[in-house]
Amino acid sequence: MSINIAAFVSGGGTNLQALIDEIEKKNINGKIQLILSNNENAYAIKRGEKHGIESIYIGKKNFSDINERNGKIIEILQEKNIDLIILAGYMSIIDKKLVRLYKNRIINIHPSLIPSFCGKGFYGKKVHEGVLEYGVKVTGATVHFVDEGTDTGPVILQKSVIVKEDDTIDSLSERVLKVEHEILPLAVKYFCEGKIKVEGRKVKIGGLEDETCTH
Ligand code: GRF
Repeated sequence: MSINIAAFVSGGGTNLQALIDEIEKKNINGKIQLILSNNENAYAIKRGEKHGIESIYIGKKNFSDINERNGKIIEILQEKNIDLIILAGYMSIIDKKLVRLYKNRIINIHPSLIPSFCGKGFYGKKVHEGVLEYGVKVTGATVHFVDEGTDTGPVILQKSVIVKEDDTIDSLSERVLKVEHEILPLAVKYFCEGKIKVEGRKVKIGGLEDETCTH
């Protein structure tokens, strides 16, 4: 049975593109049934259009009341029988009711090695800015399930990226983004194959230890 996916986006959608590509190559046993954007002008919507994926804008302009907005999101997800939500660069807080409804079925990609440079205030380029200011030598990307906190849910996959002495926010975010494009589709693939087990905070993907934590 193929998994029904909803991708939540806000911006350029390169992570969405990586997912679309892997699905089209038949590497993932799932289908993106819907792209939900909180930004009418997100380029991610155009990416979806090019691949015949339906998209919908739900944001402050058409639903100014937050409860109505959150209610509408749940209604649409249920209407489309969505099994898995992927936050592919979605810059908005996920409603707690939705988190409970989709426990361990919402996946997020974060551009650092959680629990470093995550949580409140660490989003987008601010993450890489924090990394460079602190002077750490290694950063990376993390795919995790979403719980009621900010970037606190069980970690599914991580991959590291070396910080170079002459890195800028742009050069570093570019290298981290490449890693995001590897590990997000991989995590989704495992999910769709039913390989992911969550025990408390721990995520187990049977026998894949070497792949899940790479250099
Ligand atoms: C990525 O770095 C993602 O980790 C972060 O926002 C960026 C979105 O990139 N949350 P894109 O929209 O997938 O290109």
